Amino acid sequence: MTYRVGFIQNQPVFGDIEANRNRITHLLEGFEADLLVLPELFTTGYQFASREEANDLAETISGPTTEFLTAFAKNKNLFIIAGLVERDGDAIYNSSLVTGPDGLIGRYRKIHLFDTEKNIFDAGDEPPPVFELGPARVGVMICFDWRFPETARSLALSNADVIAHPSNLVLPHCPQSMITRCLENRVYAITADRVGIEQRIPGETLTFIGQSQVVDPDGNVLVRASSDREESAVVEIDLAKARQKSINPANDLFRDRRVDLYRLS
Ligand code: ACM
Repeated sequence: MTYRVGFIQNQPVFGDIEANRNRITHLLEGFEADLLVLPELFTTGYQFASREEANDLAETISGPTTEFLTAFAKNKNLFIIAGLVERDGDAIYNSSLVTGPDGLIGRYRKIHLFDTEKNIFDAGDEPPPVFELGPARVGVMICFDWRFPETARSLALSNADVIAHPSNLVLPHCPQSMITRCLENRVYAITADRVGIEQRIPGETLTFIGQSQVVDPDGNVLVRASSDREESAVVEIDLAKARQKSINPANDLFRDRRVDLYRLS
């Protein structure tokens, strides 16, 4: 059961949604896959100086960015998962939208907000979801969710084969940690990150680490991008591998869990 998955690693210009969308159009020239993952907040940039600033750039889940990506999904017959500043009434979320050839499919609102994101966004209050995207079951988490292993575990226990992971990484450990998340759960993970520097708040320079990647259920890094260039990549994955949770005749990663002994809170 092969499935082609890919990412775009971009370098958005803060606040220039139109330029950033146009750049994505350029980066997507010739892109062919079944699933494309774009970075967290890919049209706006990351370092909001205030909640008002984020509100000014926010869109509803069926707004222009979703329309833009859905047109591309129809044209190329693929599914897309991408970051968005989502407005819903008075609330603003750091969300990911999920769309495909037949239109908007769903969304996920980041539940673990990082650092000053807590001053900007409302935290999501729904569990990380899994979507059937063609033959694949694809779970969604966003960036800093990686630091909470329960997120990937929860997606895997909800039968995700693949974790789509839109990101704006500033800490160095995530690319390596996602290898462990994949090994623990025997899932694939696509981390789509960005590059560049944002220096919008005096004394708070953010350097984004790039290194977007696809990791397989055995912990192999199938592809990893640079830390400083815009790039895209596509790899073919075998979904059957993620549905096989045994690692030898005696051990099955799900059946061997001792839920009778773990403490979760
Ligand atoms: C992050 O969660 N964007 C660091």
